[in-house]
Amino acid sequence: MTNLGKLIPDHLKKLDSYKPGKALRQAEWETGVRCIKLASNENPFGPSPLAIEAIRAATSESHFYPDNGVVELTARLAEIHELDPSQILVTAGGTTLLDIVARTLLGPGLNAVTSKLSFIVYPIVTQAAAAHLIEVPTLNDGYDLEGILRAIDGNTRVVYIANPNNPTGTVLDAQAIDRFLARLPAHVVTVLDEAYYDFASYFAAQRGREYSHSLDHVRAGRPVIVLRTFSKAHGLAGLRVGYGMGPAELMGYLARMKPAFMVSSLAETAALAALADEDHLQRAVENNAAGAELLTPAIAAMGVRVVPTWANFLFCHAGEDVAQLCQFLQEDGVIVRPMTGPWRAPDAFRVTIGTPEHNQHFLSALKRARARVLQPK
Ligand SMILES: Cc1ncc(COP(=O)(O)O)c(C=O)c1O
Repeated sequence: MTNLGKLIPDHLKKLDSYKPGKALRQAEWETGVRCIKLASNENPFGPSPLAIEAIRAATSESHFYPDNGVVELTARLAEIHELDPSQILVTAGGTTLLDIVARTLLGPGLNAVTSKLSFIVYPIVTQAAAAHLIEVPTLNDGYDLEGILRAIDGNTRVVYIANPNNPTGTVLDAQAIDRFLARLPAHVVTVLDEAYYDFASYFAAQRGREYSHSLDHVRAGRPVIVLRTFSKAHGLAGLRVGYGMGPAELMGYLARMKPAFMVSSLAETAALAALADEDHLQRAVENNAAGAELLTPAIAAMGVRVVPTWANFLFCHAGEDVAQLCQFLQEDGVIVRPMTGPWRAPDAFRVTIGTPEHNQHFLSALKRARARVLQPK
């Protein structure tokens, strides 16, 4: 018998697979109650009705392979972002883009740098590329850019910056990113991960701050890749579509590394329709800002430390008993994301901002769960 384990390279044996938020059906099956899912930062209003209509209309063409170059969506994105199509690569969600970047730029002996308490896909894709991930301690619950600059060495090829950061929801403003990029050595490519761009832009307008002008860096030809996704504000997480924007030469190399026919025709059609539905997007970002305003003080009033958010979720430091707390919340029909395991924040959970009804349900459930956790045993 072949020892299959022997065939697997050592760096892959240590690889941990991605652990997603608990699926709605699984939680309902476990608890026997109807649940709301506030665990994966999805759009609580679902996809745009225009996207649903476009998907319906396109299903009869499903026997054809999709357009490998995703030409129509790429052209539309180029128009919207004032870039050349050669500067854009559409992928099956932003996570796939991260994987392609790692496989293209990293390898044995090389490293990537990011922050502790950031997106759990960064360690996975880096390790899968046989490279090493350096994680710099956080500053005020977010990225410490000075620390990241100090951690970069001659073998660094990639810096991942989640902006806003997942899971803490903190942001780095446009000027901080400018200063950071100006000091980066030429052998490093920065991934500006703006998965929560629409929410952060809305907050920035409300709060009188400049969140991001990352595309100016792309237009200036700097070694940055800006990541965006249709999974969050556009409500298309289940269809898997996202994109990267960067220097044409680099994006050309990334394109060579992408799996063939990665973006389905339904995903492309839905994304094009979602781009045309500004009302749906506006509803999502407005509801999100109102939800953040309601939830942040209400959670804090229960003695839980909440980090002010720039995204569509809240990072909550509840205490040591967070696994138990999340279990009680689930029994009460609310799925949140414990920050245990790969997130390495065992005293915290993350909750996605929902519809007004979801948020009220969550607050009542949290109150009951806290009371149960704090009960003397
Ligand atoms: C920081 C960050 N980047 C990228 C993504 C990628 O999402 P997707 O693969 O659904 O586009 C996510 C999703 O949770 C995220 O939180």
